[in-house]
Amino acid sequence: MANITAGVATSHVPLVGVAVDKGMTQEEYFSPLFDGFEKSKQWIAEQDPDVVILVYNDHASAFSLELIPTFALGCAAKYAIADEGWGARPVPEVIGHPQLAWHIAQSVILDEFDLTIVNKMEVDHGLTVPLSLMFGQPDAWPCPVIPLAVNVIQFPPPTGNRCFQLGRAIRKAVQSFPEDLKVVVFGTGGMSHQLQGPRNGIINQAFDKFYLDNIGPNPDSLIAIDHERYLREAGSEGIELVMWLIMRGALSDDLEEVHRLYHVPVSNTAFGHLILEDKSD
Ligand code: DHB
Ligand code: FE
Repeated sequence: MANITAGVATSHVPLVGVAVDKGMTQEEYFSPLFDGFEKSKQWIAEQDPDVVILVYNDHASAFSLELIPTFALGCAAKYAIADEGWGARPVPEVIGHPQLAWHIAQSVILDEFDLTIVNKMEVDHGLTVPLSLMFGQPDAWPCPVIPLAVNVIQFPPPTGNRCFQLGRAIRKAVQSFPEDLKVVVFGTGGMSHQLQGPRNGIINQAFDKFYLDNIGPNPDSLIAIDHERYLREAGSEGIELVMWLIMRGALSDDLEEVHRLYHVPVSNTAFGHLILEDKSD
């Protein structure tokens, strides 16, 4: 039986990818962040997952305003790295896990989550920056990755509750996969930030702390946050945090927080990171 052993939450700031690619991680601006991920890299090397399910959002790389799937599950064998305007990041291509991905599609669609199935797509910083932070700069990513892209770009994005329930359905799907696989779920994006308009640059440390404190022990308090409150308290891009709730929904309530990092600012963003081990097995 496949099993979800942990959840990882992390912001996906594109400048972090630039810092990795240009060898700037030990510069004063970036070193607190990258030093904070040393423990995470060690932890994931010890976990040695067979598959990562990576919940992220595309930033008009694979999709555009012409086509806006709410939830799009990658069932492909591999994913090329997107050129976001300054050349594709020099990171390995992403290898998928079609067998588990199709199994998840089958299970969650029959559980009435009407996913979009994707057989070809390029992946952008939303997916590659979390991989770089957790795995560093290997010649090949150490395990297959199943991308789950969520629309948090064009209103209306899915609700926090819908995301949490989808996470629950993914947990059920993974646990009914016959092969013994250790699966780690990444929930990415956030924390508070806004990239446009008069409130450009807002960061709300109290809101972010509330989110970090509650996602493990009290996710109900976060599921209840509506879109207007995300916008008001966490800025327009703060809505990316609903993706953390898919990760949380995929875990049990028997959790241990093994690592936390919060650093402000990274680029325009409050950077948050958590590792939650699932002890239910
Ligand atoms: C920034 C953050 C994001 O989440 C993003 O997608 C693009 C830019 C930033 O802080 O610069
Ligand atoms: Fe983003």
